[in-house]
Parts: sequence; structure tokens; C-alpha cells
Amino acid sequence: MDENMLYLGLNTEGERVGLTLSQGNRHGLVAGASGTGKTVTMKCMAEAFSNAGVPVFLCDVKGDVSGIAAPGADNAGMQKRIDRFGLRETFRFRGYPTVFYDIYGQYGHPVRATISDVGPSLLARMMNLTDVQEGVLNIIFRIADDRGLEILDLKDLRAVIQYVSQHRAEYLTTYGNIAPTTLGAIVRALLPLENDGGDLFFGQPDLDIRDWMRTAPDGRGYINVLHSVELIRHPKIYAMFLLWMMAELFEELPEVGDADKPRLVFFFDEAHLLFTDMPKALLAQIEQTVKLIRSKGVGIYFVTQSPSDVPDTVLAQLSNRVQHALRAYTPAEQKAVRTAAQTFRPNPAFKTEDVIMNLGTGEALTSFLDRKGVPSIVQQTAIICPESLMAPCSEATRRSAMSASPVAGKYDEAVDNLSAYERLEEQAKRDEAQAELDRQRAELEAEKAALAKEKEKAKAEAEKKKAKEKEKKSKQAERRRNKIESQLISTGGSMLRRGLLSVLKKL
Ligand SMILES: Nc1ncnc2c1ncn2[C@@H]1O[C@H](COP(=O)(O)OP(=O)(O)OP(=O)(O)O)[C@@H](O)[C@H]1O
Ligand SMILES: [Mg+2]
Repeated sequence: MDENMLYLGLNTEGERVGLTLSQGNRHGLVAGASGTGKTVTMKCMAEAFSNAGVPVFLCDVKGDVSGIAAPGADNAGMQKRIDRFGLRETFRFRGYPTVFYDIYGQYGHPVRATISDVGPSLLARMMNLTDVQEGVLNIIFRIADDRGLEILDLKDLRAVIQYVSQHRAEYLTTYGNIAPTTLGAIVRALLPLENDGGDLFFGQPDLDIRDWMRTAPDGRGYINVLHSVELIRHPKIYAMFLLWMMAELFEELPEVGDADKPRLVFFFDEAHLLFTDMPKALLAQIEQTVKLIRSKGVGIYFVTQSPSDVPDTVLAQLSNRVQHALRAYTPAEQKAVRTAAQTFRPNPAFKTEDVIMNLGTGEALTSFLDRKGVPSIVQQTAIICPESLMAPCSEATRRSAMSASPVAGKYDEAVDNLSAYERLEEQAKRDEAQAELDRQRAELEAEKAALAKEKEKAKAEAEKKKAKEKEKKSKQAERRRNKIESQLISTGGSMLRRGLLSVLKKL
């Protein structure tokens, strides 16, 4: 048994078939009609990676992936399978080290991202914005950036939109016209996003993607299970969330080149949702990320019903293939079968197209890259069985996994950090306080002026009074003088008269 091979099944010759560990970052596809064994195959692959010390991320769309945390159920069928696959020596019914995550915080640790991390283009898609609205959203982000306003949650985004709407005129020359109707439309589009769980998803503490790259003390890679049962009902948010994760990994991780094993392997279930109504620009971005992320040691595995759910440019990069049965009742389905068959290197022993339609449950056509990166010829493979439970795990298992998880307590409580909303609130409060201060100051000034005026008036009046008094006094003095004068005159006259009389008498 090759150390470098993850054993996944037996071909019709009874030979072991598996995925080359060092080629695990060359991406893959697990396809097949409903109920043909995709989820079980994904679990077998996840267990194999975990055993090789590679952490894994899985989406749990139906709730049945959660069983990976619990030991599988023993029965006669399983015992037969254990022998058939030659696993008697190694097989143990056991659960895997699992960390449960749930955007809604109910079935796992909450997962959060900040709005600025998600960025305007993914956000615009989540919100179903038109091109014009997306353009304005870009401007809003730019203004917030220039002003040092951090947009962490929806409340911040609302606050910044309100700010922009109040200061539209100031930004006219720098950013062009920002129509109030467009701003209104963006605000309205926030409502459904909020209702769909955006208020829980956007915020802090935001996920440190490195937490998904842990290994357990026993050396097995942690299996991170994202509970997606609710999330899948909001396909846009689900799709954008996965794309955000991919972008985040791509940005955060350093290049590792060709390593002996991947650093992290992602399984995207219901992958067709990622590509439905995908705008061209975003698709180009995804193609690019898928292409380049491999050199960061990340393997991405799409799980979907038909390979035709995945755009050709992406499909071409998925080198490790597991194709479960496809039905071919309609011409469109027949075409899908032909297309699926053509993606395999033919095996001279059978006609790929015919076998695809006749595979039993748990059987698949497989092709994996060898050590040199060359795809093997297609093999009809019976897939091994997982050691963990092929059904949902119990609530008790989930709870105990959550309390024992390496991130227990780290993300469980949301925190509301200082960001745009608080800053703008503060600014508004400061502006208000300043206005109040200005008002009080003006009032004081007015009071002072009134007082001065009154004083002036009083002074003028006092002066007037004084002048009047003076005048009155001078008039009185004059009157007195006149009286004295007239008295003098009369006294002088009588004296004169008396003098004259005596003179006359003496004569
Ligand atoms: N490798 C296997 N070993 C044993 N049983 C298997 C295997 N693969 C599938 N089965 C059985 O088939 C059932 C359906 O498989 P599974 O849930 O993986 O299908 P699926 O393709 O994921 O379906 P859906 O598209 O509905 O999600 C499993 O519950 C299990 O009983
Ligand atoms: Mg399934």
C-alpha cells in the first residue's frame, strides 16, 4: 500500500484505487444523481485526509454530514464491507475530530466576516444590486475608506450610507453624482439581507481562516463542518459565503508550491449554486482563484449532481474525479452523461458512457492524478465505507464536540467594536454638543450686550439728571442773586432817600 495514496475503493479487478496525497491540491469533483453516494464518498475522502493530518472543510447541506463526529453503526452489512475492502486490520468505528460552525450560531460556533472584508462586489451580489447600484456601493466603500470609517456590520454600512447621503454635495466633484434614489435602493436591499441572517454573519469576532487549518492532538486533521441546512435556503448568501472563504484563503495564505500534502481541503456541496446566474466578472475571478489557490496548498472539491453544473473553465481544473451514477432519461440528461464520460481518460475494458448510467449506490467511476500529475484511466470503483456515522449525529455529540473544540468560546459571543456607526454617532453627538455650546455662548454674549446697553442708558440718564440739576441749581442761584440785587437796590435806595432827607432837614 502506497503511503502517499488515500485508499478510497476497489476497481473491478480488486485493485486498490485512491487519491495521491501530494496531488490533493489539484482539486476535484464528486458528481452523481441524488442518492447515489456523493455524501458518503465525501466523508470517506474527508476521513482519509484527516488521517493523513490534513484539515478539511465540509458543507452540511442536509444535516447528515454531522455524523462524521460520531462512530459508525456496526451491522452485518458493514462487517461484510470491512472484509471486502480488506480493512479488517485498520478499520475502527470512530468519530473524527470535528469543529461545527453555523452562521446562525445554533448548530455550531458562529461564523462571522466583516463587511469590509467581504467587499463591495460580493456584497452587491448578495444584495442583488444592479450595476449602477454596485458602482455607488463602491463609492460608499471608498468614501468610508478615505474617512477612516470601518464598515464591520450592517449598522456601520447604514450609518455610512446616511453620512454619504447627507454630504452628497461635498463629494460631487471627487466621486461624481450619487443619486439619492440609488442610495435609497441600496438601503432597501439591505433589508432582505438582514432578514436572511446578514445581521448575524456580518460582524466580529470575524473568522480567522487559520482556525480551519488545525490538527487534533492525535495528529488527525480537524474536520470543520459548516451547518448549511438553513443557509442553503438563501442560495445567494450560501454561494457568496463560500466564495468569500475561497478569496480569504487565497489572500491570507502564503505560497507553498508543491508540498507532500495539502494544507487544507474544501468540499463545496451543492456547488451548482455557486455558479447559477454568476456574472462574468465574478466567474473570471473564481476561475482565477481556483487556478492559483492550489499553489497555496488548498484543494477544492466541488460536489454536485452533474459535471455540467460547473463551468467548463473551472471543470478543466478539477483533476481528481469521482463520478457516481447519472440518470439519462431526457435528451439533456443524455448529453450530460456524454459530457461527463468525455472528461475521463478512457479505459479499454469498458465504455465509460454506458457504465455511468449503470453504477450502483456507493459505486463510481474514478480517475485520480498519479504522483507525476497524470490522470489515471477511468476505473469502475466500489467506494469504501466511512468509519464514522452515515447519518446525522446526535445533539449530545454536537454539543460535546462544540465544548471540546479548539475554538470553544472564541467566536460564541458577538462583540460590537468601535467602527463607522459608533464614530459617526460620536461625530453627530460632538456636532450637537458643539452647536449647544455655540448657542449658549451666543446667549451669553447677547446677555452681556444687553447689560452693557442698560448700563449705558443708566449712565446717560444719570448724566441728563445731573445736567438738569445743575441747570436747576444755576437757575436758583440766579434767582437768589437777582433777589439780593433787588434787595440791595431797594435798601440802597431807602438809605439814599433817608440820607437825602436828613440833608434836606439840615438845610
Ligand atoms: N460507500 C458506501 N458504502 C456504504 N453505503 C453507501 C455508500 N455510499 C452510499 N451508501 C448508501 O447510500 C445512501 C445514500 O448515499 P448518499 O447520502 O451519499 O447519497 P447522495 O448522493 O449524497 O444523495 P443526495 O444527492 O440526496 O445528497 C447512504 O445513506 C448509504 O446508505
Ligand atoms: Mg448528499
